[in-house]
Amino acid sequence: MHALIVVAHPEPGSLTHNVAAHIGHGITCDPADSFEIADLAAEGFDPRFTAVDLAVHRREMAASADVIAEQARIDRADALVLVYPVYWWSMPGLLKGWIDRVFSNGWAYDEGADLKLVKKLQRLPVHLVAIGGADMRTYARHGYFGAMKTQIDHGIFDYCGARVVTSELLLEQREGEDQRLQTARTIGCNLFRKKMSQAA
Ligand SMILES: Cc1cc2nc3c(=O)[nH]c(=O)nc-3n(C[C@H](O)[C@H](O)[C@H](O)COP(=O)(O)O)c2cc1C
Repeated sequence: MHALIVVAHPEPGSLTHNVAAHIGHGITCDPADSFEIADLAAEGFDPRFTAVDLAVHRREMAASADVIAEQARIDRADALVLVYPVYWWSMPGLLKGWIDRVFSNGWAYDEGADLKLVKKLQRLPVHLVAIGGADMRTYARHGYFGAMKTQIDHGIFDYCGARVVTSELLLEQREGEDQRLQTARTIGCNLFRKKMSQAA
């Protein structure tokens, strides 16, 4: 089984990248499983949703090469993992633009002429790992994590039929860095085991 780990952070030495690497190491606790990291910042993915993307959304033209390449690596994966810092109680613009452009009408879902929605990513298990700087009390007081789950887990992935298996928020105050990296390793190690036990 193969996982695609998408990271959206400009600094290779950041905690976010470290968490992604630990998830990857966890995945290979079964040597039969593998992973690749899509480092959107290092790869220079352009998150801007252009007139071409809008024409794709309207089914007036084919997707551009960079979008097709991203869709192909998701198609090749048995699981999708998103690792990102919380920016303004949501995902960074780089990752949001990746979703805006890559999860296109016709590929992630189909809105036919009769406006009936066809969810096209039902085969794809998704694991979300957000890393935040605020404390849990702040999240609880304002319902920020619940809002993120509504918007991201349900609003994006459920819309496309993809099952969100893991939705984690790793916070600085609650646990030290070592504990967060341990959690990351555990998420990786359980990634395909969970899938198999749920399918059984
Ligand atoms: C532009 C920006 C916005 C941020 N907004 C939030 C936020 O809304 N909530 C939060 O908990 N942390 C927020 N933070 C803190 C980051 O989530 C935190 O510093 C980061 O996850 C730490 O991981 P890193 O070392 O990988 O950057 C923000 C940081 C930046 C740079």
